[in-house]
Amino acid sequence: MRMTGALALAFLSASGTATAADDATLARGRYLAVVAGCNDCHTAGFTTHGGKVPETAWFKGDTLGYAGPWGTTYAPNLRLTIARMDLPAWTAWARSVVLRPPMPYWSLNAMSDADLAALWHFTRSLGEPGPPAPTALPPGEEPPLPVFRLVMPAMPPGAPD
Ligand code: HEC
Repeated sequence: MRMTGALALAFLSASGTATAADDATLARGRYLAVVAGCNDCHTAGFTTHGGKVPETAWFKGDTLGYAGPWGTTYAPNLRLTIARMDLPAWTAWARSVVLRPPMPYWSLNAMSDADLAALWHFTRSLGEPGPPAPTALPPGEEPPLPVFRLVMPAMPPGAPD
């Protein structure tokens, strides 16, 4: 893909980085979204449709709640998350962030700089972010449907986790 000078400049000022995303970087981000499982939760309907969701709907978050002892969490709209951060801020944050279940934050923490950059560029290339996912609910608050619920046995007092 060739960028016009004006487009490339707009891209550079939006990204705050010295290099514009090339096709290989975007392809790497797209690949990670699929093989690292990010779409499974951050794209509505991805798991229930065998991954057959058009890219125009990827990473917009989901209204499916994940309820458990941590309360109820929702996979956020990653287009909005990444729009809020420049690349250095995203890389530093993604390397150290700790999130609630079922987000596999350790996988995000373990990504290389190149992979985090590819995800950042790819996510920004997806277009209009759309609305945010619902806000997480505290433990004990009953979530609306749809909800994916972890049902645990009652533990005797003093039992280890
Ligand atoms: C099993 C479901 C699941 C998978 C798979 C998953 N996530 Fe998440 N993710 C979540 C949930 C739920 C949250 C919200 C956690 C919280 O509220 O603490 C979250 C939060 C996040 C956040 C924080 C967003 C914000 O605005 O606070 C980022 C970034 C993120 N995920 C990126 C990824 C990436 C990148 C991948 C692929 C490597 C991925 N996630 C895979 C469920 C998932």
